Amino acid sequence: MTGRTLIVTGANSGIGYEAARYLCEGGNDVILACRNEERGKEALNKIKSQNPNALVTFMQLDLASVESIKKFAEEFKTSGKKLHGLVNNAGVTQAFKDTTKQFTTDGYELTMGTNHLGPFLLTHLLLDDLKKAAEDGGDVRIVNIASSLHNPATMKRMAKDVRDLDIEDLMYDKAGSFNGLQAYKDSKLADIMFTYELARRLEGTGVTVNALNPGFIPATGLNRNTSRGQQFFLKYILGGILRPIVKFPKTVKHGADCLCDLIAGETVKGVTGKYFDETKEGESSAESKDEEKQKRLWEVSGGLLKMEGFEPIELKKPEEPPVEEPAAETKAEEAPADGETKEETKETAEEKKEEGETTKEDEDSKPKEDSKPKRRKVRSPGMAANPDSRSSSEVCDIS
Ligand SMILES: NC(=O)c1ccc[n+]([C@@H]2O[C@H](COP(=O)([O-])OP(=O)(O)OC[C@H]3O[C@@H](n4cnc5c(N)ncnc54)[C@H](OP(=O)(O)O)[C@@H]3O)[C@@H](O)[C@H]2O)c1
Repeated sequence: MTGRTLIVTGANSGIGYEAARYLCEGGNDVILACRNEERGKEALNKIKSQNPNALVTFMQLDLASVESIKKFAEEFKTSGKKLHGLVNNAGVTQAFKDTTKQFTTDGYELTMGTNHLGPFLLTHLLLDDLKKAAEDGGDVRIVNIASSLHNPATMKRMAKDVRDLDIEDLMYDKAGSFNGLQAYKDSKLADIMFTYELARRLEGTGVTVNALNPGFIPATGLNRNTSRGQQFFLKYILGGILRPIVKFPKTVKHGADCLCDLIAGETVKGVTGKYFDETKEGESSAESKDEEKQKRLWEVSGGLLKMEGFEPIELKKPEEPPVEEPAAETKAEEAPADGETKEETKETAEEKKEEGETTKEDEDSKPKEDSKPKRRKVRSPGMAANPDSRSSSEVCDIS
């Protein structure tokens, strides 16, 4: 399909960039909605250098900022363009075992805020434009990029670290409720539940909405939170040399092809409210299919964002974790508060390696600068995560 105006979020790298490039080649007018102007313009110039006739525009959009999302939607509206497609592709995660919460500009938990609340708001603000294009006879589609990790059954050993989504604690205010994997799993589950609920609400409008798991693609920004060695392993060994042998890692091109099929392919024309597992329709988790939960999630998401027509929900103050007095004899050998010097079990270390995280073994092999235990920096609510910060244990983008 050609000649449509499509917005792709997070289009400066990985699956989003590759898909935007193909969609331009297909003769569409593609808007690269990226948070960083430099990276966004670099992507635009790369597309233009390969395809000088490409109809491509950069527009600044930070999904971790309500103000930025509103500004983006306003600017799109003033462009006077019709909108035929929205790809909610941008995504982040923290290191899976990281239990330190980070926050968006508005004080939402960062992973849920960026991966679910941001696209929820953006989609709502653009719905009239999408419906209008459908009324005018356009083929109008929304694609939400999810992940197989929404489903604990696909996680093997990591599954023991995740619970069902607690919609009443979407911001992980309950003490001990947060870790990077839980938030990523929940945010991708929320994307699928949002897809199902939105599809029902869009019935009869001509606008379709589907969710996509693009597959495990180690060559994207997936590994930003790992050591250089692990990044190299994931990108060039697992995602490169070993990929044709071990087969399960997929290429960025594969992810982009799956995305392009959903937003522009003829075979899925008119299909709505489905979860696609790479190239074909698949089964999302039982948890994702609970209609009551989908409806409640809708209400809570709109409430937290204080959107018009929703009962507003105030952000809560996080619960303080209970202070436990250690037994006298263990006290002396106990690690400092952040537990960084605790001995790792062999199993934990193996799991960390499997998930691309830095293990104690890796840490021990690094030259020691000083022997004092280091405290982890804790961000407080309302303090924005710096989107440009790429240091380890900070924000990373992942499957
Ligand atoms: N790779 C996989 O194995 C895999 C598997 C399943 C699902 N996914 C999903 O696929 C999508 C694309 O990820 P990818 O693998 O292609 O990783 P990627 O290369 O890191 O792309 C992620 C994109 O999201 C952007 N982004 C992050 N935070 C943002 C924000 N606050 N506002 C706007 N844009 C933001 C990033 O921008 P910056 O460059 O500025 O950081 C980047 O362009 C994500 O939703 C991810 O969850 C990936």
